[in-house]
Amino acid sequence: MFDGQFLTIADYEQHVRQQMSPALFDCEYGSHGDPAWSTYTSNRAGFHALKLRPRVLVDVSRRSLATEVLGQSISLPVVVGPTGGLGVHDPQGELPTVRAAGAAGTIMVLSGLSTCPAADVAGAATCPWLQQVWILEDRELVAWQVRNAEELGAAAIVLTVSNTGETWHSAQLRFPTTGAPDDGPASNLVELAHRAPTVRQFMGSISRASTWADVRWLRELTSLPLVIKGIQTSEDAELCVEHGVDGIVVSNHGGRFLQGARGTIEALPEITATVGERLEVYLDGGVRQGQDVLKALALGARAVWLGRAARWGTTVAGEQGVRNVLEILQRELDGSMGLCGITDVRHVPASLVTRDVVPTVEN
Ligand SMILES: Cc1cc2nc3c(=O)[nH]c(=O)nc-3n(C[C@H](O)[C@H](O)[C@H](O)COP(=O)(O)O)c2cc1C
Repeated sequence: MFDGQFLTIADYEQHVRQQMSPALFDCEYGSHGDPAWSTYTSNRAGFHALKLRPRVLVDVSRRSLATEVLGQSISLPVVVGPTGGLGVHDPQGELPTVRAAGAAGTIMVLSGLSTCPAADVAGAATCPWLQQVWILEDRELVAWQVRNAEELGAAAIVLTVSNTGETWHSAQLRFPTTGAPDDGPASNLVELAHRAPTVRQFMGSISRASTWADVRWLRELTSLPLVIKGIQTSEDAELCVEHGVDGIVVSNHGGRFLQGARGTIEALPEITATVGERLEVYLDGGVRQGQDVLKALALGARAVWLGRAARWGTTVAGEQGVRNVLEILQRELDGSMGLCGITDVRHVPASLVTRDVVPTVEN
């Protein structure tokens, strides 16, 4: 099915868009606000505003895309980030995705609200996997998810802080379900039997009262590396360092919640400048091309995480689709490196990018 039909991430987006009703696509993937000012638009616009400054006559005949994330070696600086309930798009839930991540030599992050129980994903994984969690009103449930992930061999815990369960935006009000059985029990928590909340209860129980004290609590709860996903300012990045966090994802949740925020690639430089080498910095939001990955690395990210792109891959063709999405980004990244005189993803200079604005020409 891939004979020339799916050569870019945009091909995947277009295919998925055609298969879904406009309201459902908007709710799950849309910009959740006027595209002219939405955070989603800022994520993409931020990448467009950055231009590359290629160096030439560099021997690029040997190139390395390999790097390390939290001590785990990966073969390309692209991590498959968490998106909830993949069972909506694939009867096997998260299993095809974790298999694809393994085949590509990278890492998968399992959503705290996945379709499959973590045990099934751990059983299928041939790669390191990280467990994502939220701070829920029921802290015992969070503690259970963390301990369960530890026992199953997760490589890290990822705490998401960029959505606090608010569901106020127009797309969600127009179409208040993503197609998942919101009133059914959260299928990844079935082991909890009588304590397992429904999907709706789970999302509604993300704590609006969580603070840095909860980060301290989580830090003490687990000896695994701890990543905070959803940092957008240097102030909060500094607090992550102070709280013993090992990595941060500069993320605005793909623009699905707060509108009017900066694109993540715009927020990245102040954060990498603040934290330096004290923790690892990753970025997500709007990554659709190999050049986007290169720009993020130039501004100090160690790797990018995928949201929509990987999910579109699963939707179109399960494991094969996610593998192809990762191959596309790898090919585009590798090709762009060759054209820019870059031979190693661990050494991409900040001078590779410029924010020069092209003046508008009036006719
Ligand atoms: C449909 C959908 C579901 C998501 N579910 C989760 C989730 O369960 N946990 C989480 O931390 N982030 C979740 N995210 C956010 C992604 O991990 C990521 O931050 C965001 O999608 C990145 O932007 P991008 O989609 O432009 O790559 C979700 C995103 C989408 C589009």
